[in-house]
Amino acid sequence: MTTSFSLPQRILHWLMAVLILFNLLFADAMETYARVFFGGQTPTPEQVSAANIHAYVGITVLVLGLVRFCLRFIQGVPPEPKEEPPFLRVVAKVSHWAFYLLFFAMPFAGIGAYYFGNKTAAFAHGGPMKLFMWGLIVAHIGGALVHQFYWKTDVLRRMTAGSR
Ligand code: HEM
Ligand code: HEM
Repeated sequence: MTTSFSLPQRILHWLMAVLILFNLLFADAMETYARVFFGGQTPTPEQVSAANIHAYVGITVLVLGLVRFCLRFIQGVPPEPKEEPPFLRVVAKVSHWAFYLLFFAMPFAGIGAYYFGNKTAAFAHGGPMKLFMWGLIVAHIGGALVHQFYWKTDVLRRMTAGSR
């Protein structure tokens, strides 16, 4: 049974974390674009190129998410450590799958909003999905810290240097 995440899995984890946090924290240009567009006006070429950065970063998340999803099936993932209480092991499993759901749902809703002008997709993307993503990230980092300092497991190590 695998005891660590593979190098490609680890690289994808941290690369995607950076891209997702970038889009979560620096969405201003896309918000300006959406305000102008959904307000019935035509965005300027500068506003479009600034918004494109958000779109391309988000589409990259979608593509990398697909690669990562396939790798998960081919290479598997290490089991939750036995120090972790059974209930929280289930919570960890469910929240990891919820991340994968968002890796696909969030870019798709963004594409619906940006390329097809769909208002419902725009609302879902910038409202509930954004909040859900933030909630998961905060809980996820909290979980990683509890593993490291309270249960003292090797979980952080197997997503960074990799465990032997
Ligand atoms: C996982 C990847 C993505 C993340 C984390 C993300 C995150 C965000 C965030 C935080 C906002 C601001 C919402 C607000 O506070 O009002 C936003 C807005 C927006 N994003 Fe994304 N985004 C992603 C992918 C995409 C993609 C791929 C596209 C299009 C190709 C896109 C198009 C939009 C649009 C059109 C808005 C404006 C929605 C509105 O407020 O009406 N996003 N996104
Ligand atoms: C946007 C930010 C992040 C996202 C979307 C994310 C997503 C994920 C996902 C989906 C997994 C499950 C394993 C997989 O299928 O690859 C995972 C595992 C993990 N993440 Fe993150 N992560 C983020 C940030 C972080 C940060 C900041 C830390 C460190 C504090 C961290 C530490 C870990 C660890 C230690 C694991 C391994 C858990 C295990 O062994 O079961 N992650 N992450």
